[in-house]
Amino acid sequence: ISVSTGNNYIMALDSGTTSVRAVIVDEYGCIVAQASKPLKTICPHPGWVEQDPMEILASQIAVMMEVQFKSGIHSDSIAAIGISNQRETTVVWDRDSGQPIYNAIVWQCRRTAPLAEQLIVDGYEEEIRAKTGLTPDPYFAGTKIRWILDNVSGAHEAAEAGELMFGTIDTWLIYNLTGGVTYATDYTNASRTMLFNINTLEWDEDLLGHLDIPRSMMPEVRWSSGDFGRVSSEIMTHMPPIMGVAGDQQASLFGHGCFEPGAAKNTYGTGCFMLMNTGETIVESAHGLVSTIGIAEGGKISYALEGSIFHAGSTIQWLRDKMGIIASAGETAAICRSVEGNSGCYFVPAFSGLGAPWWDPNARAMICGLTTASDRATIVRAACESMAYQSYDVLRSMEADSGIKLPSLCVDGGASRNEFIMQFQADLLGIPIVQAESLETTALGAAYLAGLAVGYWEDHEDLLQNVGEAKTFAPAGDTAQVNFNLAGWHDAVARARTTQ
Ligand code: G3P
Repeated sequence: ISVSTGNNYIMALDSGTTSVRAVIVDEYGCIVAQASKPLKTICPHPGWVEQDPMEILASQIAVMMEVQFKSGIHSDSIAAIGISNQRETTVVWDRDSGQPIYNAIVWQCRRTAPLAEQLIVDGYEEEIRAKTGLTPDPYFAGTKIRWILDNVSGAHEAAEAGELMFGTIDTWLIYNLTGGVTYATDYTNASRTMLFNINTLEWDEDLLGHLDIPRSMMPEVRWSSGDFGRVSSEIMTHMPPIMGVAGDQQASLFGHGCFEPGAAKNTYGTGCFMLMNTGETIVESAHGLVSTIGIAEGGKISYALEGSIFHAGSTIQWLRDKMGIIASAGETAAICRSVEGNSGCYFVPAFSGLGAPWWDPNARAMICGLTTASDRATIVRAACESMAYQSYDVLRSMEADSGIKLPSLCVDGGASRNEFIMQFQADLLGIPIVQAESLETTALGAAYLAGLAVGYWEDHEDLLQNVGEAKTFAPAGDTAQVNFNLAGWHDAVARARTTQ
């Protein structure tokens, strides 16, 4: 591995939905230090999800400082910074004061379902699909921007006057970390707005027009591996430049080394996101997936097919924080194993409607199949199984769309360390599940993008030497039982859906 700078490490910032993290990575892709902080989520009305942009920024800076302090690594020894972020979450701020005019509207928020439905009624669905690869849904940033302009007093006029700026979380962080010098995003994040044409690689004037969003509030779009500016010395001194930026799911695709068409990964985070590299081809999904920009590096765009599942780890968080029936996610595997089978109980975690492959923003979560014998373990098991069933549905759609039968599935994220879920997943899919060596594949992807830009790593070959496996789960399911479980799951999903 060649290290052409005199610096020994890369710093990666992973700004997720549940927590923000900072890690320091060495040339072998090992995380030598890390710090994280949980984020608060605000739910002012049923189905609404917000976060405080100032808290996101302050927490991100705090973990950058903490990781440096913990590791004792001086800024001069860090060659570059990479950023990965929760994607569609939308911030609008005042160009002069830099203050957000509203909370960040989080990707899970359903408040703009009527706006997304209106786009369909107005006949824009095909145009949106063809230009952006996406399906009209409140998940994406476009309708969230529109909502802020419509609902914050004076926002519409201010936007027209060029006084407002929009950003996904990457843009919000970069703008603030560089002291307002860089107002930019990268191609992968831009492709999650429903306003970016993934064929021409430009903000689309027609789509901006359909949602009445002025072009002046859109950031410049750059390659994921390249210069995004230096961290202002007013925030931290002697820091290196930000040289890598990608949406977290694309960063994880990169971190897994899925550089070639046909390579895929599944990340079990707050939600669950399966992406398959489709190379130069934008695959138009006929099975409820979206197309997106997967990798934008080395002057080349690789597209990806994506299955976005809105609730995975957040379902377990809900059991812990709202229901109080578990103390920590770590105990769920043992609870699941304490019962024989699921006893016909299914948990459809449509807390924010259903994403891929159903796209039903009005669906609501449900637990069905309870009997007097059901207890806490029944519900915990149903919640854990739901991650695997949802991933099953997405993977089958991906195979149907791509014509590729995956020989195995690479996984990362918190629940990828839950051995019950991983074995259950292997049994359902009938293929081996390959756990990534590092839990922090997302942060590693951001580090790799930054490191490539400064010559810390030379090329993909260099990075592939760092990609390792922790454990493989071989399928061992009984086919009749698997089919019985899947039938029960699909029956439960049909009950939760509002559109069939
Ligand atoms: O599209 C939403 C996604 O980027 C959120 O990721 O890591 O918070 O589950 P995560």
